[in-house]
Amino acid sequence: MNRIAVLGSTGSIGTSCLEVIAAHPSDMTLVGVSANRSWELLGRQSTTFAPRYAVLCDESLAGQVDTSVFGGHTELLFGDEGIQQLVTDEETDVVVTGIVGAAGLRGTWAALESGKRVAVANKETLVVAGPLVMELAGRRGAEVIPVDSEHSAVFQAMQAGRSREIRRIVLTSSGGPFRGSTAQQLSEVTPRQALAHPTWQMGPKITVDSATMMNKALEVIEAKWLFELEVDQIEVAVHPQSIVHSMVEFVDGSVIAQMSPPDMKLPIQYALTYPDRVSTPTGSIDFTAPFSLDFEPPDLDAFPALRLGFEVARRGGTAGAVLNAANEAAVARFLDGRLGFNDIPRLCQDLLDNHDFDPSPDLDELLRQDRRARAEAELW
Ligand SMILES: NC(=O)c1ccc[n+]([C@@H]2O[C@H](COP(=O)([O-])OP(=O)(O)OC[C@H]3O[C@@H](n4cnc5c(N)ncnc54)[C@H](OP(=O)(O)O)[C@@H]3O)[C@@H](O)[C@H]2O)c1
Repeated sequence: MNRIAVLGSTGSIGTSCLEVIAAHPSDMTLVGVSANRSWELLGRQSTTFAPRYAVLCDESLAGQVDTSVFGGHTELLFGDEGIQQLVTDEETDVVVTGIVGAAGLRGTWAALESGKRVAVANKETLVVAGPLVMELAGRRGAEVIPVDSEHSAVFQAMQAGRSREIRRIVLTSSGGPFRGSTAQQLSEVTPRQALAHPTWQMGPKITVDSATMMNKALEVIEAKWLFELEVDQIEVAVHPQSIVHSMVEFVDGSVIAQMSPPDMKLPIQYALTYPDRVSTPTGSIDFTAPFSLDFEPPDLDAFPALRLGFEVARRGGTAGAVLNAANEAAVARFLDGRLGFNDIPRLCQDLLDNHDFDPSPDLDELLRQDRRARAEAELW
């Protein structure tokens, strides 16, 4: 029995993860769930799955929520201490990190420190503190298994060879809702248009990141730390059908791709069951009808955010923390109608160019730079 804690269980990744767990009742059980403020949904999840713990990260809700909605089997906890208790509990085998943004760092860190397998959806944690996170995992003997569909694809394809035999990886991108648009056309984009992704149903922050291609930028940085690659070994190709989720090219020129319908339940499940494969509640590719797979290079002039991903992956140090914080704050301002679409990468570039770069920061310094970048992004 795989005993699973799902951080961010009320979000897009979290609810898909609960569907996976529900589809495998004899192999998987839910130990705990967490949300920031969505206590009613968290309560419904608790009565359905009867996990041991439910955690509300926003401590100001203590004393305000109707605790009866959590059922009789689930203990309600609050804040960072609640997350710490859930992920370090001896009954927890795997922690799925489905929290959005740098807020996911604490739970990931605590889970790795106690040697748990971490199924990482929360890419921002690796963007902010990739080297420290991977060093901690190595020291504590904790496994980090990717959930992001592209990194899961790379992880799966990598099993066709040895790491020293990898020539390069190719991360695919759907291109988002504005594929083919010019920078001029993008300057008019509204939050409603940016929130309409053609392929994936996701939370609002990652949906906007997909529209600016900042999501792919964050994935380049995530891939560098996760797979210990040189930046020159990472490429991006736009693939609008979202069937090939990414590829690995080995030194002999063989390219191994992972293909499946676009459904996050598959990579989530693989991260839970690895190295085993079990049947999924998702469909199959239909090869009885004609279809084609297209690939094209990304347009870096219309989507300058992607360039930032490569720049930050090369610089390392505090650059990831600043890019991530600047982007989180810029996306929030864009969604509030207080920033233009093309200003998101401009703001990020400006904060990156002008920050107090430290090539080998510790965690406290990264958190300090994160706070500072958020404050500056509000004033930009
Ligand atoms: N969605 C996808 O298909 C997908 C694919 C690949 C990777 N990812 C990554 O997975 C992560 C989650 O994405 P998502 O689309 O599932 O996001 P989402 O739908 O917005 O869900 C976010 C979850 O995090 C919780 N949360 C938000 N702010 C928090 C905070 N400050 N402290 C603690 N918990 C907080 C939310 O709780 P409330 O409900 O209370 O707000 C919710 O449970 C992101 O890092 C994203 O990049 C997502």
